[in-house]
This record gives sequence, C-alpha cells and structure tokens, in this order.
Amino acid sequence: MADQTSWLKIVVQCRDAVRKRIAPLLKTLNEPQRDLGLGAGGDPVRKIDLAAERAIFETVKKHEVSFTLISEESGIKQYGDSPSQNFVTIDPIDGTTNLMRKIPFYATSIAVSARPSLESIHTALVEDLYHGVTYTAQRGKGAYSNGEKLTPSKITSLEEAVIGVDINTYKVRKIASQLTALIERTKHLRHLGANALELCYVAGGTTDAFIDIRGKLRTTDMAAASLIIKEAGARITSPEGKPLRIRLDPRQTVFFVAAGNEEIHRVILDLIRPRKEI
Ligand code: IPD
Ligand code: CA
Repeated sequence: MADQTSWLKIVVQCRDAVRKRIAPLLKTLNEPQRDLGLGAGGDPVRKIDLAAERAIFETVKKHEVSFTLISEESGIKQYGDSPSQNFVTIDPIDGTTNLMRKIPFYATSIAVSARPSLESIHTALVEDLYHGVTYTAQRGKGAYSNGEKLTPSKITSLEEAVIGVDINTYKVRKIASQLTALIERTKHLRHLGANALELCYVAGGTTDAFIDIRGKLRTTDMAAASLIIKEAGARITSPEGKPLRIRLDPRQTVFFVAAGNEEIHRVILDLIRPRKEI
C-alpha cells in the first residue's frame, strides 16, 4: 500500500506524464476540434483534457495500488482489488478555455485521499503547466512550490489587497448583492480563469484572497488546491465561515472563501455574508 511519501512521488510522475502527453497537442490548438460531448462535470470535453486524464490514470495504474479515480472528465473509474482504499481526485486540465485560447494560465490538479471527502485529502499537486511551477502539499508537512515553502500574504487592507472573485455565471444576479460591498471597497479585483491555480496564488501570497460563491465550481477543480491552501497556513471556508466538509464527486459543487490570513478572511466574510431582506 502506498504511503504519503510514495503518493507524492506518484503524483509528481503523473505531472511529468501529463506534460509529455499534452506537448504535441499544444501545437494543434488552431486546428478544428472534434465534438467529444460533455464530461462528467457537465462541460464540453476536449481531446487535450482526455489525453491528460489518460496520462494520470495510466501512471497511477503502474504502481501497485488499488484506487478510485474521480475525474471531471470521465467521472468515476475503479481500479484494482480494493478501489476504496485510495481516491485520486483530478481535474486533468483546469482552465481549458485559457489553454485553447492560448492564455498562459492553466493547470493540472491531483488530490489523493483515503476517503472520498475534501477534508481527508493527504497529498496534493497542482501544476502550472505554462510556467512549469509545481505546487505540492502533504497533510501535516506544509506546502511548497518548486521545493520552496509557500507563505501566504499578511496584507489585511482591502485597499492594498489583490482579490480574485469568480463571477463567471449566467446567474450572477443571485450573488451580485452579496458581492457589491466587497467590490465597492476593493481596489484590485481579478479573475484569471483557472480556479485551482488561483487558490495556489493565495497559498503563496501572490494574491490575497479568492472567492467563488457561484455554487458552480466542482470539487474536482479545487480538491488539491484546498490542501495546498491549508498546509500553507492560509484559510479556506464556506461563505458562512464553516470548514468545508464536502464529498468528492465530479457533480458535487462547492462555495468557498479563501484568504491569506485570518484577518482579511474575516473582513471578507463580514462583507459577503447574505444580508437579511429589510
Ligand atoms: C474552470 C476554471 C474557471 C472557472 C470555471 C471552471 P475547467 O475549470 O476553473 O476559472 O470559472 O467554473 O469550470 O472547466 O477549465 O476545468
Ligand atoms: Ca477541467
């Protein structure tokens, strides 16, 4: 049975396999893309998503482990005699639209847990595929990028903070009133288009917070990054300030507020708390 240390080696091998497998496809982005239908998470599937997924599945299979793959593309696949011993939750490519449009911000995300729940993840890797930056975390052992310890931001003022907010939803009216007070007081707002990587930016202090309260993001996209955030010492909770206890499933969605430090996290929660109708 693979322990935490060997899982880290396995996810690093998965990263290398993804890089190798997608390299030729990155040269064909201008060619017409075949319609491959919708993935388990409900979005259109691209050839490159499937190639990355296959690279991860085949790499884990080479090791003597039984596992259940929970993927945004193919859904749930079981392998080996005891597939419920390990759960490997992946978003093969996070930020597929960025990748297809050659916006240099997309990632692969891999999380390993002993149960299919966010809070039980013990090993995580998010790879910034364009810049070649590897974010990793192991439970209880901190979070790193290319071997350097991640330290979140200490900034507490909304004037100075760079805050990511995902407002990418047709149902924006539902969340607009919750976000108005925060947007009114924030000087530097961003949405970069790959939520796994945007969470890693918070873990490493590149940005100060990242918020997704659309109820649309799948757990597969942020599973790995949620451990990286926690191990870096940053905060991630529900918009009500509660710990995230969520099932890992390609259809399961999640609402969250992540921030570099306790103080700015509290300021943001106070501003976005659902207001009672007067
Ligand atoms: C998408 C990205 C994007 C977010 C979308 C996600 P995908 O992931 O994380 O930033 O706004 O909701 O679906 O589909 O490229 O894996
Ligand atoms: Ca994806």
